[in-house]
Amino acid sequence: MAGLIPSVFIDDLLTRVDVVDLIDSYLPLKKTGSNYVARCPFHTEKTPSFSVSRRKQFYHCFGCGASGNAIGFLMDYSHLNFVEAVEDLASFVGIDVPREESVTTPLIGKQDLASLYAVQQQVAKFYAQQLRDSNNDGLAVQYFKDRGVSGEVARDFLLGYAPDQWHLLADQFDTGLLKKAGLLIAKEDGRSYDRFRGRIMFPIRDRRGRVVAFGARVLGDALPKYLNSPETPVFHKSNEVYGLYELLEKKGRPAQILLVEGYMDVIALAQFGLRNAVATLGTAPTRAHFDLLFRFTAEIILCFDGDEAGLKAAWRAIEAGLPCLKDGRHIRVMLLPEKEDPDSLIRREGVDAFLARLAAASPLSDYFFSRLSGALDLQTLEGRAALMVKAKAYLKTLPSGYFREMMVGRLNEQVEHVTLDLESEGTRRRSDISKEKVTPARTANALLLQNPELAQSQFLKDGVDLSLDSPGLNLLRKVLSVIAKKPELTTGGLLENFRGEPEEGQVRALVQVPVLVPESVLEVEFAGAVRRLVAQVVEADLAQLLKKEQVLGLTLDEKKKMLRFLAMK
Ligand code: UTP
Ligand code: MN
Repeated sequence: MAGLIPSVFIDDLLTRVDVVDLIDSYLPLKKTGSNYVARCPFHTEKTPSFSVSRRKQFYHCFGCGASGNAIGFLMDYSHLNFVEAVEDLASFVGIDVPREESVTTPLIGKQDLASLYAVQQQVAKFYAQQLRDSNNDGLAVQYFKDRGVSGEVARDFLLGYAPDQWHLLADQFDTGLLKKAGLLIAKEDGRSYDRFRGRIMFPIRDRRGRVVAFGARVLGDALPKYLNSPETPVFHKSNEVYGLYELLEKKGRPAQILLVEGYMDVIALAQFGLRNAVATLGTAPTRAHFDLLFRFTAEIILCFDGDEAGLKAAWRAIEAGLPCLKDGRHIRVMLLPEKEDPDSLIRREGVDAFLARLAAASPLSDYFFSRLSGALDLQTLEGRAALMVKAKAYLKTLPSGYFREMMVGRLNEQVEHVTLDLESEGTRRRSDISKEKVTPARTANALLLQNPELAQSQFLKDGVDLSLDSPGLNLLRKVLSVIAKKPELTTGGLLENFRGEPEEGQVRALVQVPVLVPESVLEVEFAGAVRRLVAQVVEADLAQLLKKEQVLGLTLDEKKKMLRFLAMK
């Protein structure tokens, strides 16, 4: 996992993959003319306005404006982050992702990690065997029976039993590894003993099914009720959830994932056929948890106890989740009656009643505003101002998109149309050539980005002076220099090279600008636009110099510049 993905690999990957094949494997495309079309997967529509170009290696929806290359498609369609999308794409074309040596030397080598996974897998199997072993006291089996857990569910979750003994593990497994995995506790005199004794064992598996840690419950009422493995090189509890691997095994990509609080909640829901629940490991949900879960679903339902502590926990979860709410992702909140958890509730009310509660879970937007305004009096100016201040701080953490706009709209409604513009405080205003009307700068850059082969135009080789400082020319030079290094790049590939660059937004907008120029005159149009652009910049700079000359006079350098400009006209 460690190490950066070399950028040449990404360029190479994008030349190997055909965005048409890739997208076609997710939604069937129909050929019309030189493009392929479908109904847009990013918004609801009756007639297809989603178009994919093989030549440009780029997709674009005329309806909602979604656009990008193969990597962007996977990121948006499958809710992946960049690295995951690259990995998915690499496996789509059947190659491995190379990694550059990471600068920080890892504390633990690959080999050690593999043996940490292996020993925990073996220990989990050992505990599962102990559960079935009739030589044991049978207390654990009885416990599961009492709580209504079937053999099938126990098997699916690899549930086990750690008999009440101090030195079971060390006899069978490598003690060094057991210590690293947190399964043995070392004493000062150098001896050690088993961490988990007389407990029901819940192996915690990562999404690839590797056992990374354990949760362990006492059979009776002793405290602490649950013990967990400590943090180890393979286990960070704020990144892991219980039940995800088991969910993916059964469900693939469920429409919803229920986020609950307890191990036994996941187990009980599974027992009733609801295989789409996961639990955090005794911590509040983190942003990493949401990021992880949103890779596999578009909707997360938070199930929390309706008591004061549960309400607080739900709000903390929402705070952590807001930054992950890109368009298309949803969070809903389901509060349970006080002192109930999903386990007790589904057993008491049955699965249908539980599903009805789920269906009635509040959308985040409703919950958010009702919680925030609950303590405020919106009849007063002070109350509305307080709501504004509080809500604004939260809404700022939302990623930009329709959902954020709608939430801002709703806030404005609540405070009665006091206008609020989240952007105006930040960094807007910059000369942005991608948003202006048709200008030479826009035309020249759009033509080049959409037809990278124009970089070979004769008039460029004849030596045009593109060195002046203007946003349009600066971008043009940068695009040309990228193409000079990588002449084979398509539009989609070019876009990739601007990911994370200051010009990314402009480039993204410009590759979508409709430029209706027949192929036969592309080069002529491009040359014309570039010349007009240069002339415009010369004109503007010249005007400034002339003004300065009249008022202050010019330095020698400036005089030379002026002569050069005059010659360029
Ligand atoms: P609960 O006490 O609600 O657990 O704690 P539960 O799953 O409903 O347990 P049962 O039904 O009594 O068996 C919720 C979660 O908080 C963590 C565990 O992850 C637990 O599942 N927890 C709880 C601990 O880590 N330690 C504890 O002592 C208690
Ligand atoms: Mn419980």
